[in-house]
Amino acid sequence: MSDYDNGTPATSAYQTVRERLESGQSRWVVTGVAGFIGSNLLQSLLELGQRVVGVDNFLTGYRHNLDQVREQLDASAWRRFELIEGDIRDQSVCRAACDRADYVLHQAALGSVARSIDDPLLCNDINIAGFLNMLDAARLAGVRRMVYAASSASYGDHPAMPKQEQHIGNALSPYALTKYVDELYAGVYARCYGTESIGLRYFNVFGPRQDPAGAYAAVIPQWIAAMIEHRQLVIHGDGESSRDFCYVANAVQANLLAALVDKPAAVNQVYNVALNARTSLNELYLTLHGLLVERHPHLRDFQPHYGDYRAGDVRHSQADIGKATRLLGYAPTHDLRRGLRQALRWYEAHLTPKAAQPGRA
Ligand SMILES: NC(=O)c1ccc[n+]([C@@H]2O[C@H](COP(=O)([O-])OP(=O)(O)OC[C@H]3O[C@@H](n4cnc5c(N)ncnc54)[C@H](O)[C@@H]3O)[C@@H](O)[C@H]2O)c1
Repeated sequence: MSDYDNGTPATSAYQTVRERLESGQSRWVVTGVAGFIGSNLLQSLLELGQRVVGVDNFLTGYRHNLDQVREQLDASAWRRFELIEGDIRDQSVCRAACDRADYVLHQAALGSVARSIDDPLLCNDINIAGFLNMLDAARLAGVRRMVYAASSASYGDHPAMPKQEQHIGNALSPYALTKYVDELYAGVYARCYGTESIGLRYFNVFGPRQDPAGAYAAVIPQWIAAMIEHRQLVIHGDGESSRDFCYVANAVQANLLAALVDKPAAVNQVYNVALNARTSLNELYLTLHGLLVERHPHLRDFQPHYGDYRAGDVRHSQADIGKATRLLGYAPTHDLRRGLRQALRWYEAHLTPKAAQPGRA
């Protein structure tokens, strides 16, 4: 059984795409397949009867993410998956992956603003040189389309809200710059070689298998783990910074729609992927606390700590999803609360130590 239901209304564009996939098998490359979003894409594709070649060097991804996908599928589905353990900075790895592929879903990257500030050269190598290797391998192999993970970080200091795809400010981190350069490369490849691609600017994606550990962990898994394990939870700044948090099933939907969309006007574009909902960190904390406290009584008196703002973070973020709605038929199935409930189920089942199980405070 899946960790999440995809919640798809029967008449949606997404349902049509899922039916198309179920009626015929294609060969997909998923880079970053052992990571958070990559492993969720893998699971959905295998559930839909597809063949998947995954690429990962396990820099920030985990074998246990792949094990969890395998545990949720029958053996015949898992046999449609092949893993290439390799680095996208190595052209031969990218070419081997793209051989006979129909679609590429490129997720591999150094995916953290803070880490990119600590290590800008590594970020450049993976996020730009590695991206270009994949784009070029996709071109040489004649794949139908490459869908790639872009980022809301690319909006940088542009003040407009909600964010519309055409208005980009100054990048506030090496990470943000690399993701924007990827979009520029994708555009150049479309014009020079006719390579089809679509960029998805994810806004704060969360859900099962997102890593809660380490200095670079994203806010939702970090906070869930901190609360359940009764460790210190730090809100950076005054807590009034806001984000458009997007459950991973919505990101999976956007990838599949982007890969299969037929309208020429929809191709070689970038799209926001989120909800068009703005949630402050203080609101996020209260929502999470409220969802957790019933099952974890030790949280009743839990209090967050307020710390410094983090370098490179944008103050507010909210997506205008009109373009994805119009051109891709994107219709998010999970709002923040529904997504958080599903994510919490997963964290409670997989990541909590015994002492933190409900009723064991
Ligand atoms: N999670 C979010 O909120 C978010 C927001 C915006 C954009 N993104 C982008 O989405 C993509 C996936 O992010 P995620 O949250 O799943 O991160 P993740 O760190 O869980 O996954 C990234 C995967 O890429 C792999 N990888 C890294 N460098 C590699 C290399 N050189 N060769 C091969 N594999 C490599 C890692 O081992 C990992 O499995 C990234 O491109 C990220 O920048 C994510």
